[in-house]
Amino acid sequence: MLFCDVSGSTGLGERLDAESVREIMLRYFREMRLTIDRHGGTVEKFIGDAVVGVFGVPVAHEDDAVRAVRAASEMHERLAELNEHLDAGFGVRLAVRIGLYSGEVVSGDASSGGVLVTGDAVNVAARLQQAAAPGEILLGGPTYRLARHVISAELIEPVDAKGKSQPVTAYRLLSVLAGGTASARPARAPMVGRREELETLNAAFAEAVGSRSCRLCVIVGEAGVGKSRLAAEFQRRLAGTVLYGQSLPYGEGITYWPLAEVIRQAAGIRDEHSVRAARARISTLLAGEPRRSRVASVLWQALGLAEGAASSVDIAWAARKFVEALARERPLVVCLDELQWAEASFLDLIESVVARSRDAPILLLGLARPEFLRQRPGWATLRLEPLADVEATELVAQLADLGEDTRSRVIARAEGNPLFVEELVAAIVEDPELELPPTLDALLSARLDRLEPTARTVIERGSIEGEAFHRGAVEALSDDLSGPSIAGALEALAAAELIHPSQSSFAGDVSYRFHHILIRDAAYRGIAKKVRAELHERFANWLLQAVGERVAEHEEVLGYQLEQSYRLRAELGNVDAPTQGVANRAAEWLASAGRRAFARGDMAAAAGLLRRAARLLDADPPRRLELMPELGKACRFAGDRAGAEAALREAVDQSVAIGDRRLTTLSRVEHTFMRLYTDPDVETEDVLRVAEEALGVFTELADEGGLAQAWALIGHANWLLCHGTRMEEAFTSALECAQRAGDPREQGWNLRMLALVYYHGPTPVDDAIERCEEILRLGRGHAAIEVSTRAKIAGLEAMRGRFDIARDLYQQCRKVGEEFGLGPVLAALPNYSGPIELLAGNLEAAERELRSGCEALESLGETSTLSTSAALLARTLEIQGQLDEADRFTVLSEQTASGDDLASQTTWRGVRARVLARRGQFEQAERLAREAVTVAARTDFLVWRGEALLDLAAVLRLSGDSRGSSSSAEEALQLFEAKGHIIFRERTRALLHKPVELRPA
Ligand SMILES: Nc1ncnc2c1ncn2[C@@H]1O[C@H](COP(=O)(O)OP(=O)(O)O)[C@@H](O)[C@H]1O
Ligand SMILES: [Mg+2]
Repeated sequence: MLFCDVSGSTGLGERLDAESVREIMLRYFREMRLTIDRHGGTVEKFIGDAVVGVFGVPVAHEDDAVRAVRAASEMHERLAELNEHLDAGFGVRLAVRIGLYSGEVVSGDASSGGVLVTGDAVNVAARLQQAAAPGEILLGGPTYRLARHVISAELIEPVDAKGKSQPVTAYRLLSVLAGGTASARPARAPMVGRREELETLNAAFAEAVGSRSCRLCVIVGEAGVGKSRLAAEFQRRLAGTVLYGQSLPYGEGITYWPLAEVIRQAAGIRDEHSVRAARARISTLLAGEPRRSRVASVLWQALGLAEGAASSVDIAWAARKFVEALARERPLVVCLDELQWAEASFLDLIESVVARSRDAPILLLGLARPEFLRQRPGWATLRLEPLADVEATELVAQLADLGEDTRSRVIARAEGNPLFVEELVAAIVEDPELELPPTLDALLSARLDRLEPTARTVIERGSIEGEAFHRGAVEALSDDLSGPSIAGALEALAAAELIHPSQSSFAGDVSYRFHHILIRDAAYRGIAKKVRAELHERFANWLLQAVGERVAEHEEVLGYQLEQSYRLRAELGNVDAPTQGVANRAAEWLASAGRRAFARGDMAAAAGLLRRAARLLDADPPRRLELMPELGKACRFAGDRAGAEAALREAVDQSVAIGDRRLTTLSRVEHTFMRLYTDPDVETEDVLRVAEEALGVFTELADEGGLAQAWALIGHANWLLCHGTRMEEAFTSALECAQRAGDPREQGWNLRMLALVYYHGPTPVDDAIERCEEILRLGRGHAAIEVSTRAKIAGLEAMRGRFDIARDLYQQCRKVGEEFGLGPVLAALPNYSGPIELLAGNLEAAERELRSGCEALESLGETSTLSTSAALLARTLEIQGQLDEADRFTVLSEQTASGDDLASQTTWRGVRARVLARRGQFEQAERLAREAVTVAARTDFLVWRGEALLDLAAVLRLSGDSRGSSSSAEEALQLFEAKGHIIFRERTRALLHKPVELRPA
């Protein structure tokens, strides 16, 4: 029972005219009624200004008390919003007192119109309401016990109540956890079995709490076997916050939908909140987080509440910070349902949270169907088996009193699937003569067939939106039904336990969930294709107006709905102009969502969305063509070479055919990009020719985006050639063009390449550091850019002898890299820290860095970074006189280095030459050392060249050619001077004035 009364409303009449008072009170009643409705309660009556709500009449649910408490707390929130308007319009504010009590009530017949509910609980709730202060919510003992897992409340002085011999225990509500958990689903029967599984979950939770760390537990089982129920039972008894997120069946591309749900629940964000309000709520939750503004800003971007291209890595980091912040207050369980539909990058996010979360008790509880096992075979899972026969028998007995014979037929047919059991029993109760359908799907369809026509229509229209749907949407799809008849049908459907009221919704709307997604699917299957096609389009139109400015969060859904509409029409052979219009709209949403996925580096999702958009545009070749270069690029980054090849070939052929130069050029550039990194026979000259031509075309067309691509291609070709000066020119131009074209992702890539060239290329150290600092500034907020740039600055600082700064920086890099899970950046870090320690003369540290780097890379099977690390380790070992081992690592480097990897090719040769010379094999040594010098001479990477010359100098000196040795060293000295490499300059100078030290071993 919920009693809510306005405090001091009688005074209103003295200050305002009767009409205003009436209007104010009507608004107040409307808001309060909607709130109660929304949580599945009913307003029984208005007594004066008091609102009386009941939950659990006519059908009681396990969570009636929870829903009542949530409703009460939301009533205060609603009132606060309403007060803003009232204050502005009338200069008044209302305050309410609320009392809640749970117990038996007697409900009369609604048709009599009289007092509907009576009983002790009614009186006590009214008493609690009177005892509450304005703005307060008081709960009786039973309500507190039923809801305590989701609230925090304090015990206050007992309250006297009429008809009670003793004062009533009362609690003051302090706060309610945001909800929407799986437990919102009403259960038909008490849970049977599953004791062991519950214990496992409890143990996992206890472990998370005990160790203040993050645990992952995934329950796998067929649809209907009881995963959600198990999760709900587990959560019901839990002392912690519970949040719930679900992947959608058409989840492709909606990578962060479950994350968004979790955040929205925790922050109490409702659909009607403005973008600003939604953002503010997220920030508020992060109050204690030191990096609050960065975390908030990344999450806004992930949810579509702000522009920007936070990368998947940054999003995973921010998601972790978010759950950690919540869990520090209270242990946290995040239930992630229907994981088999999750995008790969969302699963990566989960892995990253589990691996990196610290000092916060979190249990991530995944629920998935068996096909999930193929997606992440490595994850530990808990298999949920069908119920045993005795358990199924118990369940049937709980549900209905069936004859022995029927009961055993039900049990045999259901094969231990509790949903099947429930539905069979429900069908038999409805129709005792029923012949049991062979499958669950058939059974569900048959049950829906027996609904009366309006209910049938309403449930079908609900199924268009999905497992959860809004009454407003059903209304928008129903010109033929009145509001009251829809409401009536929804009630009937809820009574038949096909659907149940649920929480999240748009302002003034009510939402429902199907009792199970298979029921939704059955309802959907029942709709004729032609009708479905139309309903999907109308739903999209409704959604578009309902979401208002928060449209970015719904792009994928809008695209999906319109896509379905189009596909169904096309299947029916109907491709007229309006149909094409639907396809175009669908393509626009999907393409926009695809570009957002692309911008955050979620390439598999981007490729999927762009491909779907392209398919919709078959009949509109020019627009289809527009998407192809981007689709090709997304495929390339997602590692789908065949997909990239197909998209780009089509793009080139088609654009040539229609004579679109811009697209032809763009597609060629992208195709060449792909070849540059995947085709061993590619000629850099060809690549440069394509790029130069493209520059001409795009300049003529004043196409900044195209210019950015062409310049980037030139930059990359020169990276393979190790031409620093040209790289710098190209990437600087690419960056400027990308800035003008407003493409943050492209800018990020260019920034990283520029940092690389400042480190390796001929830019003098002091300058190079300054420019890298600038890159850091431009890349702020992007962990990958920050870390990789700092690593370069560290290396540069060591070149000018500032070892403390250098060490500090590379250690920072490691810390941040680990925090963000930047695997590739971390793997390459020893290639900076190793040389830094070598320059500092700390051979032990250099060896440690490089050895652990090599081991990590070897275990990953990564070779492109390994070849360089191995060569650098060989150098370290050679200096220490460990010739055999040094030699061994030169072999590893030689075996793993690709032909165009000049750093490795020169280093392993130079080091092996030194080893050979120390062993007296001068001829071979000199040959190798000269090869290294020749290879390096092709580049303007001055330090590499200088080092190759120093290696040659050492070899020549050992072989007795001191003239040759000196002249090599002189040459090296000039290069080190040009780069501003103080350490090598000094060492080389010292060398030139020193007699031979090393002797053949
Ligand atoms: N052990 C159980 N005892 C009683 N009812 C159960 C049990 N497991 C599941 N159910 C009921 O069966 C139906 C389907 O279960 P659900 O958890 O939704 O399945 P899943 O999530 O695996 O698809 C629900 O109505 C649920 O309450
Ligand atoms: Mg489920």
